[in-house]
This record gives sequence, structure tokens and C-alpha cells, in this order.
Amino acid sequence: MNPFLQSDFLVIGAGVAGLRAAVELAAYGSVLVVTKEAVSESNTHYAQGGIAVAMEGDADVALHFEDTIVAGDGLVDRAAAETLVREGPLRVAELMEWGAQFDREAGQLLRTREAAHSRPRILHANGDATGAEIGRALAVLARSQANIRFAEWTTVTNLVVADGRVVGADLLDRDGVLSRVPARAVLVAAGGAGQMYSHTTNPAVATGDGLALALRAGAELSDMEFYQFHPTALALPGVPAFLLSEALRGEGAWLVNDRGERFMERYDARLELAPRDVVARAVWREGMDEAGRQARQVYLDMRHVTGIDLHKRFPGISAFLAQHGLDLHRDRIPIRPAAHYLMGGVRTDLDGRTRVRGLYAAGEAACTGLHGANRLASNSLLEGLVFGARAAQAMLADALSLAVVPDAEPMRAVAVPEGLVAEIVQELRQTMDRCAGLLREENGLRDGLALQARCAEALDEIAGRATPSREIVEAQSLCAVAEAILSSALARTESRGAHFRTDYPRRDDERFGKHSIFDGKYVTFAD
Ligand code: SIN
Repeated sequence: MNPFLQSDFLVIGAGVAGLRAAVELAAYGSVLVVTKEAVSESNTHYAQGGIAVAMEGDADVALHFEDTIVAGDGLVDRAAAETLVREGPLRVAELMEWGAQFDREAGQLLRTREAAHSRPRILHANGDATGAEIGRALAVLARSQANIRFAEWTTVTNLVVADGRVVGADLLDRDGVLSRVPARAVLVAAGGAGQMYSHTTNPAVATGDGLALALRAGAELSDMEFYQFHPTALALPGVPAFLLSEALRGEGAWLVNDRGERFMERYDARLELAPRDVVARAVWREGMDEAGRQARQVYLDMRHVTGIDLHKRFPGISAFLAQHGLDLHRDRIPIRPAAHYLMGGVRTDLDGRTRVRGLYAAGEAACTGLHGANRLASNSLLEGLVFGARAAQAMLADALSLAVVPDAEPMRAVAVPEGLVAEIVQELRQTMDRCAGLLREENGLRDGLALQARCAEALDEIAGRATPSREIVEAQSLCAVAEAILSSALARTESRGAHFRTDYPRRDDERFGKHSIFDGKYVTFAD
């Protein structure tokens, strides 16, 4: 084993949840933070709009709680929401003490509004680069702690389980060197899996590895049918689905169809600030032609917005649009929904504990039930702070000792023909687009599961004989997460939040006011 990697605590992922946990753990033991690319490359880094937090006392906190519950469409775990809104202000205050700079005017914090928020409560940084600022502040602090080391450009290929407990992990570095690393406790904070779909606001690293690792180690996944599509990603041929923050609508943007109609009034009285699932489906429906294909362009329009310099308020978005000849003041911006955030994840209690001893999860990779069927905009950075800290505290409180780690299997040495794994991933993505996108129905989901099984078989065959690689790990992770999404979506024969079944268009509280649980084989439902 590489002695550099020996640590008390292993944290998988360097987004807000992973870094917040690492900082908490570092006071009591050595921490290794493993991340597939540079520390800055996580979903956190790309979060634009902001961080929702109620900093003005009990009434404000109660409203934040209420908005979280309403957005989640009858499925939010009330204790999780209560924990988020009550502990959030403390975590944000602490973050500011650690150097995070949020936008201010005359010394006062600026707050914006996003969909389904009853009041402006979203702090932002550098206009539209909030996640990057939070990630920066946490990374600076983490790097200053002697007890924290980073293994960048390193992929976790496996969690080591002995006697029903996670006792370490196998790490693959960028040179292809595999090391088995013992740890007293392991935290999965590796984010979501947007790469499962062809159009996503997520970076390339978001392949659901943490979920797949946890599932293989014996943990359960919960609420996997709820994948949030952001309604407004840039839609230009050959250009990534760049996020166009909900804060644009908070500052007055309209959504218009190809006939120039502002259409949201036909879908929800809250118009462009209706919950995200409602807006995303409306954009999707307006984009459909008579044959059900996405053939009509939908636009975000701010040309009517006056009294605000949009380039100054949204510098990152403006700069990206300018590269493509577009300007928020002058142009309608072509948009489409894109996979953005997984409400489901590794099933945990409110302290990040999974059902496997030694294994914890936090942030987007975890599911406490906080988001229910639809996450309230800008609750995710706060979730990472609050539940990252709580998971770390549980890891410390459980005080597990280092265990004897069994030897790793010898490494195989067969290279995979170039392009083979990428082809399988492409097929998987197209399957998920078609069968488990914004609108679902039974036949499509069954087809999806059959195609997913074919992809899984092909990948297992490759993995069984090939040299381990990041590409294979990611493809297998996507495949495992796809199975969980398809199975859970098939089992939930109702529509709720981000999960819309065209064959079961109504919400059915009696049968499905519950969370789904996927154990790798079966889906069950529990309160
Ligand atoms: C956005 O800026 O629209 C993203 C915020 C979020 O996903 O919560």
C-alpha cells in the first residue's frame, strides 16, 4: 500500500459536502479526500444561482421550511427539512468567517429569489458563481489543515467490505496504479449522475460512482425515480447544456415558445417561478411537435427587463453567451431542460449513516428525504454544508477503529479496445433520455430496463477481463444508477414532483406518499 494514502477517514468527493466533512474530521484524525479530477471539479463548482438560507430569525426559518415542503410535492422528510433550515444559518455564518464572500451592497448581503421561494433568501457570490466561491473558501481552509491530504485525479474502484463493515477502499491513480487503502470510516460525497442523460448541466465527473460503490457495498438507494431536470439549460447545437440560472427568472426572465407566447400561465399561477419540476415539464411540452418530438425551440427572454445591468449581475452567464454571439439584454436565449440534480441517493439517516457500518453519505450522493420529489432551488449547497458536517460528526462519534483489510485481487492486464465502453455509455444515455426523462410510462420503462441489462452485461464482461480504468468504473456506475432509476420509476405508478408517469398522471398519496428503496434487486416503499 502507498503509505501516503493511509488515513483515519476517507472522503470520496471534493464538493461542498466532502470538503465540509473533511474540515470537521481533521480536528480528530487524518483525512484523505479522493477526487477524480482537480479539487475544483465538482457539481458544487458549477452551482450558479446561490445558497438558500434563512438568516432572519424564526419566522424566516419557518418560511424556508414551508417552501421546502411545498416544492417537494408531499414527500419531504420533515425532520430533514427542519434540520436543514435550522442548522443552515449557523453553517453559512461559519462559512463566511472562513472567508466565503457573498455579494453585498452597502455592506448588506444581497438576496435573490428563485422558483418556489416565497421571499428572496438566496445569497450569491460574484453574481452567478456561488458554488465556485463556496468551493474555493472550503478548499483553501482544507488545504491549510495539516491533517487533510488530497488524492486528486484518483478514482475509487471499490469499497472494501469485511464482516459487514466498510474498512477501506481501492484507489486507482491517473498512472493506473491501484492501492488498497484502509480507513476507520468512509464518506461518500461524490455528487450526482447527470452524465446518465445526453443533456446535463453537470460536469463529466458526475457519473454516480458514489451511489454505485455504496450499493455494491450493501447500502440502499432511495427516491431514485426523482431526477430533477433544470428547465433552462442553453440549447445550441454542439454546445454543452450550459446552466442558465433560475436566478435569471428571479430577476424577471420570461419563458416564451416559438410563437412568441409567454406560456407559463397555461401551466401554473406562479408562472416562471413555479416549482422546477412544473416549469421543466412546461418547457418540455412547449418544445414538442405534434409527433411528440422535441422540435420546437423554447426561449428565455429578458429583453423587457430594465433597471438592472444583466452583464454585471450575471457575469459568468453573460460571458458564456457572448462566446456564442448571444446577449441577455438583446436576444432571446434558446433553452431546453437538462438533467441537473438527483433527489435520490444513498439512503441515510440525518447523520449520514447508511445501513452498512463504516459507510456514510452526504450531499447530492445521499438521500435523507430532504428534497422529497422535487428539490427547492438553491437548497443543495446548504444541504452539503449541513449534512456534510453532520456526517463527519457521526463518523467521529461512532469511533470505529482500523480493521484488518483483506488483500486485493491481482490486477488484470488486458486493455479494452478504444471506443467500446464509450459506445455502451452512449447507448445507455439514449435509453435514459427516451425511457426515463421528463415523461415516463410503463412500456418505455420496461424497454429501458431490458436495454440497461444488456449494457450491464457487456460492461461486466469487459470489467471481468480488463485492466481497471476510470472509464470502466464510470460506465458501470452509470449503469447501476440507471437500473435504480428505471426500477424505481416503474414501481411508482403515480406522478409526483419530478417523476411524471403519462399512464398514471395523478398523485396517489395513499399508496405512494412514501419513499422508494432500491436494494440492488427490488424496490420497496417505506415512510
Ligand atoms: C440555478 O442557479 O438555477 C441552480 C440552482 C440550483 O440548482 O439549486
